[in-house]
Amino acid sequence: MAIVAASVLDADFSKWKEWLPKLEEAKVDRIQWDLMDNKYVPNKGIDAKWIPELRKKTKIFFETHHMVEKPEKYVTEFSEMGSQLFIFHVETTKEPQKLIEQIKENGMKVGIAVNNKTPIEKIFPYLNKVDIALVMTVEAGFGGQSFIEQNLEKVKVLRKKIDKEGLDCLIEVDGGVNTKTAPKCVEAGVDILVSGGGIFKHPKGIAEAVKELKSL
Ligand code: DX5
Repeated sequence: MAIVAASVLDADFSKWKEWLPKLEEAKVDRIQWDLMDNKYVPNKGIDAKWIPELRKKTKIFFETHHMVEKPEKYVTEFSEMGSQLFIFHVETTKEPQKLIEQIKENGMKVGIAVNNKTPIEKIFPYLNKVDIALVMTVEAGFGGQSFIEQNLEKVKVLRKKIDKEGLDCLIEVDGGVNTKTAPKCVEAGVDILVSGGGIFKHPKGIAEAVKELKSL
């Protein structure tokens, strides 16, 4: 059974009272919030005010995906907002180890992400220190992009390494993941599927999309 995270990057927040109960009924495992600074990626991402707002309305696990320069600046703030897992990009810090410790000191689980063009080996030194390794299957920055199947080669290498060393780190993919592309992700060794459009724009609705993804 795959773990499923709904990305709310392109969700209509004027209708959260409609889609949040649907995500809960569908028993989605997580909500992923995409934070962007219009510097590391050319986009502004979600309005972070919704995180504390919806934190009060649901018990669903919140993970925050920080596509920003100097992610260390945001750790305390997002812990206080209710993030339970802080995912940073390995490309955005010179001291991943220090940032990992800072995130843990703030009571959150830790995720390390590799963007589309970054070799997977870049995160190898940290796999025994983080909870999640996120392999981007698009170029970070926008929802609704096409899935980059080539990046599943990174997942396969990561899967082998984690299994060989008996590590607890889970593998997550994000970008163009939907009921069509997800089976290949799970086959490659993915544990957590992040899907935005694949859930919110599924022709049969949110519940069906989540059910299909979770059944993989
Ligand atoms: C890219 C974002 C998106 C988003 C999911 O920076 O991280 O991948 O979460 O968008 P979809 O699932 O619509 O590609």
